[in-house]
Amino acid sequence: MATEFDMTGKVAMVTGASSGLGEHFVKILAERGAKVVAAARRVDRLEALVAEINAAGGEAIAVALDVTNKASITQAFDQAEAAFGPVTVVSNNAGVAHVESALTMSDEKWDQIMDTNLKGAWMVATEAGRRMIAAGVGGSIVNTASILGIRVARGQTGYCASKAAVIHMTKGLALELVRKHIRVNALCPGYFATEMTAGYFEDVSGQAFLKATPAQRAGTMDEITAPFLLLASDAGAFVNGVALPVDGAHSIANF
Ligand SMILES: NC(=O)c1ccc[n+]([C@@H]2O[C@H](COP(=O)([O-])OP(=O)(O)OC[C@H]3O[C@@H](n4cnc5c(N)ncnc54)[C@H](OP(=O)(O)O)[C@@H]3O)[C@@H](O)[C@H]2O)c1
Repeated sequence: MATEFDMTGKVAMVTGASSGLGEHFVKILAERGAKVVAAARRVDRLEALVAEINAAGGEAIAVALDVTNKASITQAFDQAEAAFGPVTVVSNNAGVAHVESALTMSDEKWDQIMDTNLKGAWMVATEAGRRMIAAGVGGSIVNTASILGIRVARGQTGYCASKAAVIHMTKGLALELVRKHIRVNALCPGYFATEMTAGYFEDVSGQAFLKATPAQRAGTMDEITAPFLLLASDAGAFVNGVALPVDGAHSIANF
């Protein structure tokens, strides 16, 4: 896997890098030789992560990023380029979830979900695309969607809508950017234990839910490593515009 998914020479930016999947993506990119820009709002956490990577011989920097703020996105890319040169791999991973009936959820909550999961991902992906083209480099953009962009779940209508839109946005961008040598794919995780899911999985109802899924458990970080690297690295050079579930068959289950 180390040779096939070699990231030497790549400059990778990961959004939502301060915890969960994003933190994992930073580590596996750095382990395979990428120079990594870890981006999120909680900079203290990013600093600890990049210190660990740099101490182990990797190359990473932390940048403050709020994906709902265009100026913050521009600044993060400027900082990345100043440190490492043009960004060639983007893990567009920042996201928020909220579980509540559609009938009581506030418009403000809907806006927060859409502004982060959809518009934030849109602004990051298009900024990355413009900069890759200006620098004359190709690249790979991996949007973290969800199986809830493929199927739905009760109480998560806003989240599901945002992730379905991310999948369609991915396909549109892939078609538009393919001749600029930029690939755009979506990773669709099933359920993984992160801060986003922690409260639920610790609860008895969350445990029962997991037991009822086809695989009867959550995925582990190791199980999303190769699917992510396939989309991010040159090993997936002809994989473009896909939405790849990593979910132990959950997205095809009929419940
Ligand atoms: N865990 C799962 O089971 C699962 C399943 C399917 C899809 N996903 C998706 O995977 C991605 C990562 O989630 P996770 O499970 O790893 O949850 P997590 O641990 O809660 O991580 C979410 C990350 O998003 C960042 N973030 C949120 N709002 C942001 C903003 N406005 N600007 C920049 N960063 C922001 C957070 O950083 P700061 O708060 O420091 O900014 C954090 O690093 C999300 O897109 C999520 O929807 C997760």
